[in-house]
Amino acid sequence: MNYIGVDLGTSAVKLMLMKADGEILKIVSRDYPVSFPHPGWSEQNPADWYKAVVDGIGELTEGTDKSEIAGIGAGGQMHGLVALDSNDEVIRPAILWNDGRTSEETEYLNDVIGKDKLSKYTGNIAFAGFTAPKILWMKKHEKENFEKIRKIMLPKDYINYKLTGVHCTDYSDASGMLLLDVEHKCWSSEMADICGISLDVLPKLYESYEVVGTLRKEAAEELGLSENVKVVAGAGDNAAAAVGTGTVGDGRCNISVGTSGTLFISSKDFRVDSNNALHAFDHADGHFHLMGCMLSAASCKKWWFEEILKTDDYAGEEGRIKKLGENNVFFLPYLMGERSPHNDPSARGAFIGMSMDTTREEMSLAVLEGIMFGLRDSLEVARSLGLKIERSKICGGGSRGALSKKIAASVMNLKIDVIENEQGPALGGAMLAAVGCGEYADVEAAADAIVKVVETVEPDSELVAKYEERYQKFKSFYPLLKGKF
Ligand code: XUL
Repeated sequence: MNYIGVDLGTSAVKLMLMKADGEILKIVSRDYPVSFPHPGWSEQNPADWYKAVVDGIGELTEGTDKSEIAGIGAGGQMHGLVALDSNDEVIRPAILWNDGRTSEETEYLNDVIGKDKLSKYTGNIAFAGFTAPKILWMKKHEKENFEKIRKIMLPKDYINYKLTGVHCTDYSDASGMLLLDVEHKCWSSEMADICGISLDVLPKLYESYEVVGTLRKEAAEELGLSENVKVVAGAGDNAAAAVGTGTVGDGRCNISVGTSGTLFISSKDFRVDSNNALHAFDHADGHFHLMGCMLSAASCKKWWFEEILKTDDYAGEEGRIKKLGENNVFFLPYLMGERSPHNDPSARGAFIGMSMDTTREEMSLAVLEGIMFGLRDSLEVARSLGLKIERSKICGGGSRGALSKKIAASVMNLKIDVIENEQGPALGGAMLAAVGCGEYADVEAAADAIVKVVETVEPDSELVAKYEERYQKFKSFYPLLKGKF
């Protein structure tokens, strides 16, 4: 049988058709707009997501035997607030994961309610992108909309709702709402009280690989698929990407360089770092993970190449970069503020250290290095917990090409295992659907069968030493600039 994997991203949805053995038959994508109605705000229209999914699945399945399609699984951008009224209509545009409007609500949660209590209830503290601060923002600034809320869900849950009619979410994605008791896998009534919502506003919880339902009649007609197609709960995009790179079970690491950048460590046991600098979340394999998230990763590259240099020839620009480790220019990648580890929505990007002879290539290199230094910040927290991380998988558009992988390996002193299909969340979503439909006993078995490492990029010891020095300098800049943006 065949499975559809959905990666509901921030700039586009990617859809994949996968055979049960992991062979990828086809990939299509559909873009949709993001609106920035105020500086630091970021919103999307859930109807645009669903339209893109329906349109994309039409193209994906064209010319294929549709009766072979058994299941659909989605990985989706996390934390976004989708609020539905009593008719299941969307009340306002979704407020996204990289929206920084909730500084006040985040401060209220961390400082007035208190980090200790939040950590006790959920395993995490408040970050501006999380869902609970957004609910508080709506309560204060859009009272009328807030009063209308009957259901709250996350972006990919809206797609699953449209497909099946079921209000559902999965543990990995729900972890980023700050409403879930992550360790005990249930909604926190304390957090619901703090946000002023009742528990029945929250969707039903499932494991990522569990089937939530089959296609509603209308959805089946729109998609041209059978009503018997099963839909699994799916996962937050990082957990889905981790499944797609085989980062499941205990002690494995995945670096995702998408619009955001994340460092993801799978774990059989629940653990929290004492400062809650890393997120302690449930994983799509039924266990747990720790994760650091930088808000702008591949988006820094996109901004620099496309908006500033006015080119989409990334390979050409990167090909002209010859010398690594000796750049005098630094780039702070905080174009949308920063989450891990600074938790500062008002932080902004900066170039530091230019001179009259600074070249375009050095500025470009500084951007690539700044992304990896930002990810190293999270790796440092993980290492400070005593976690021995020596190798990592890598995925996401921002890691394409040899240069980014080489910089990643040497900045973080990690062996980077490159996998055959760097398809991240879409592949993970399809794999979860295959597990849910009984093709594999569990998520680990699916990963063992499907994910193949084809190359390992080793850190270069000379470069590691040079980057160590540069990272120490990089680290010293944010504290100097904090509060001045
Ligand atoms: C993770 C996070 C981002 C989004 C991007 O906590 O906010 O990685 O999931 O889609």
